[in-house]
Parts: sequence; C-alpha cells; structure tokens
Amino acid sequence: MSVPASVQWVGGVDGHVELIDQTLLPARLERLACRDVDTVIEAITSLRVRGAPAIGIAGGYGVVVAADEARRRHLAAEAARAHVLARAESLASARPTAVNLRWAVERVLRTIEGLPEATPAVSLGEVLLAEARAIHDEDRQLCEAIGRHGAAVLPSGGVLTHCNTGGLATGGAGTALAVITTAWEQGRRFEVFADETRPLLQGARLTAWELVQRGIPVTVLVDAAAAHLMKSGRVAAVIVGADRITACGDTANKIGTYGLAVLAAAHGVPFFVAAPSSTFDLAIDSGDDIPIEERPPREVTHPLGVQAAPDGAAAFNPAFDVTPAHLIKAIVTERGVIEPVTSKNVAMILGTP
Ligand code: MRU
Repeated sequence: MSVPASVQWVGGVDGHVELIDQTLLPARLERLACRDVDTVIEAITSLRVRGAPAIGIAGGYGVVVAADEARRRHLAAEAARAHVLARAESLASARPTAVNLRWAVERVLRTIEGLPEATPAVSLGEVLLAEARAIHDEDRQLCEAIGRHGAAVLPSGGVLTHCNTGGLATGGAGTALAVITTAWEQGRRFEVFADETRPLLQGARLTAWELVQRGIPVTVLVDAAAAHLMKSGRVAAVIVGADRITACGDTANKIGTYGLAVLAAAHGVPFFVAAPSSTFDLAIDSGDDIPIEERPPREVTHPLGVQAAPDGAAAFNPAFDVTPAHLIKAIVTERGVIEPVTSKNVAMILGTP
C-alpha cells in the first residue's frame, strides 16, 4: 500500500492547498485546507507540512493562494502583483534551512516576471499554478529516480535512517526512504531501523508509520541507541535525506544526522545522503554558511506536550546540523550518484540541467 499525498492542490486557480497535518500522525490522519497564505505559513512553521521537498511544493502552491487572495480582495493589477510578491517573501522565509522552500517560491515567481503590469490577479494565478504543479509533478519523478539510483548502490544488510524522508516529506515516494522502499520492492530483504528523531519524533511517528503502511517491517530506536546498534554489526548502511547541500557536499539535515555520520565512520559503516537537485545550494561552499533553524525550547522541555524538564531550565533546540562532505560516502540524486563527494563531482552531476 502506498502513502497518501502529503500536499495537493484542490480545484482550479481559485482552489486551495490541502495538506496532511503531520503533527497528528500516527494517531490521526487528517487533512488541513489552506485557503489563505497565513494558514500555509503556519502549517510550514509548525511542521504540519515538513520535509524539504514537501515544504517547497507547499510554498509554490502558497504563492498561488496569494494570487487568489488578491483576486478575492479585488486588488487592481499593480496591487495584486505587489501582494503576491510580499506574501511570497513571507512564505520563502517561513523556515530558513531547507533551500527547497525559497527555491520553489522563487521559481514559481519567475514565471510572472515578464507578464504585462496590467495582468489581473486571476491570470497571474493561472501562470503561477502551472509552475507550482510542474514542481510537484517533477518531484514525483525525481523521487522515483532517486529510489532507483540509490537501490543500486545500497549494500545488502540492515539500514538505519533518521527523521522522515518518505512520501510525507516529498511529492512522491521520498528520498532516502524511497531508496529503502525501492530496494524492498525489488525483492531484497533487510532490517530497517528508524531513529525516533528527537525532539519531534519524525522517525518514530512518520517514518515508522509510512513503513507500516507499506508492509515493510521497521524497528524504532531512541537516537542514543544508534552507536550500540552499529557496534552490534546489524547496520550495513546509514541513509538520510537533506535540507541543504553545499557546492562541496556539506549537508544540512535533521539534528542528529552529524552524530550518526561520526558514528558510522567510527564503525566503518557507509553513510549515504539522498536528495534531489533542488536541495543543492551551489551558491554556498562551506556548510558553516548554512543557516540553522533554532526552534522553540518547549519542543525539548515538553515533548509531545508533556513536561519533561523543570520550569526554569533552558533548552538548546537546533532543528538541523551539518555533516561535512568527508563523512559522506555518496550523495544519491535524481541525476546520478555523487561519489566520492567532492566539489568537482557535485559540479559534474549537477552542472547540467
Ligand atoms: O524539520 P523537518 O521535519 O522538516 O526536517 C526534515 C528533514 O530533516 C528531512 O530529513 C529532510 O528534509 C529530507 S526530506 C526528503
């Protein structure tokens, strides 16, 4: 069984974005209709929709919602365009680390750049919607290609993954999780381990849910058990997704990823990253220049809403960390596998569209 689409556009140009509210999983599978930009932004910032490609797709559709807001407010052409541009900037900056969000918003916006100033909101919306849909459709295909390329290089044996990189996080089958599910669909059998992924438990709540939906056995572990598990020899590969990859291959991904990469190196376990080309930010060379989102302390002090630290305790809650390229065996993209991970190989695989 496959996983329902995490993001979709419902209706025509005056339609809306519909999201699976991922904060409710695995207990409840509910959809949220976003008819205004503030609702889309709230959904992105509170992780109702999450995962780098999925927030890019939601952001792209969010720009269409902005045009529809302008139509509903009967704004004249010039004011309508100004409204779209202002709301697009708010969408693009809703979360700072995953480059896919700004990439998608800017790509959608570029389609109206050359249109006459007198273009009414509804016509802006039509052009924006076509591009937002194109990004969504492409993502489905990218996931398939990533799954295929990744399965070809994934060694036999147990696989450990972190956070959620499946259908919920993308417009298709996922990135790292697509590699795992593709290998499984090819008939290979292996243990799949999912880090629970503190503090928001994307691994336990979402990755395990997706694998259970697909009938693939999964074992969830607390993040702190990864070292012990690797030492036991049950992990032949670690594979994760990415939120931003620099020109040299330094990779930002969910907090805890860097630690896993260090552990993998210490145990001689190959560490793979799987991501589409839209996750690369070739304008940045060093991972030190990737902005790291800091999230509210309450996510740490009150996991799942239950108080776990005393009042008055501070919390350190970076949402992402950066794994240096030298710890990554290969980066799987829709265009092929980057191995070894060097600036030259990144440019070679991504240089041509
Ligand atoms: O904070 P999140 O849940 O949006 O973080 C998501 C991740 O870190 C994923 O691993 C990454 O976006 C890749 S999703 C295909």
